[in-house]
Amino acid sequence: MTDEPVVEVPVVEVPVVEAPVVEVRGLHAFYGASHVLHGIDLAVGRGESLSLMGRNGMGKTTTIRSIFGLVRPRRGEIRIHGQDMTGRAPERIARQGVALVPEGREIFPNLSVEENLMMAARPGRDGATPWTRERVLGIFPRLAERLGSMGDQLSGGEQQMLSIGRALLTNPELLILDEATEGLAPLIRKEIWSVIRGIKKAGVATIIVDKDVNALLSVCDRCLILAKGRVVFSGAASELAGNPEVHRKYLGV
Ligand SMILES: Nc1ncnc2c1ncn2[C@@H]1O[C@H](COP(=O)(O)OP(=O)(O)OP(=O)(O)O)[C@@H](O)[C@H]1O
Ligand SMILES: [Mg+2]
Repeated sequence: MTDEPVVEVPVVEVPVVEAPVVEVRGLHAFYGASHVLHGIDLAVGRGESLSLMGRNGMGKTTTIRSIFGLVRPRRGEIRIHGQDMTGRAPERIARQGVALVPEGREIFPNLSVEENLMMAARPGRDGATPWTRERVLGIFPRLAERLGSMGDQLSGGEQQMLSIGRALLTNPELLILDEATEGLAPLIRKEIWSVIRGIKKAGVATIIVDKDVNALLSVCDRCLILAKGRVVFSGAASELAGNPEVHRKYLGV
């Protein structure tokens, strides 16, 4: 045998690090020949709230649609709870605990509020059902009053509430909201923000896109700013709030 000295290898306790709810690495996306996302990186931890900011056409919706499987990434990786979900169908992403409230709401006009609401209802990834029909109607009393109305009889605000309620009934661990207050009256907007705060408090992670930067800064933990399909700022909401330079450069009109 050799007479090499025996090296004592110290035993290192490796802490168990929980995988982020969603992690995006080096995401590139195209529409036809048009290259719109150029290597997006982002991560959202359990119960964390991330806002995705940037002027019109910078790639916010495309990033969200890629996470939800509606746009197939050309390059890069999307992991949900540590599992590679790149290129999977939206139904598969949803079963992994992600819900999307899309730009435009996508309420079925010829189904009732009740039908629109309940069509997506199912237990969460772990089988739990913290978001019941009663709980959702409790946070949106207007919907409770309009259960029999058809989707196309609702106001914009009611449609938005229905879209959020429907997403919550899938018992998600990550809720993605794309322009949830767009085009709504100030009072309804306030109501939606207050519901979003409640959802965050309940421990659901969120990715939020909205034009109201001040509301985003008051709700979100971290912010990401996109410009022409690239991340140009990533930091705590407080960091962005105290940085008028970045504000002016990437968010000002
Ligand atoms: N279906 C599509 N086909 C072709 N190009 C598209 C399509 N959807 C978006 N784009 C283009 O991709 C780029 C990113 O668009 P995206 O919708 O992701 O931006 P956004 O940041 O969500 O903008 P907005 O604030 O206006 O919602 C833009 O240049 C847009 O014109
Ligand atoms: Mg958009």
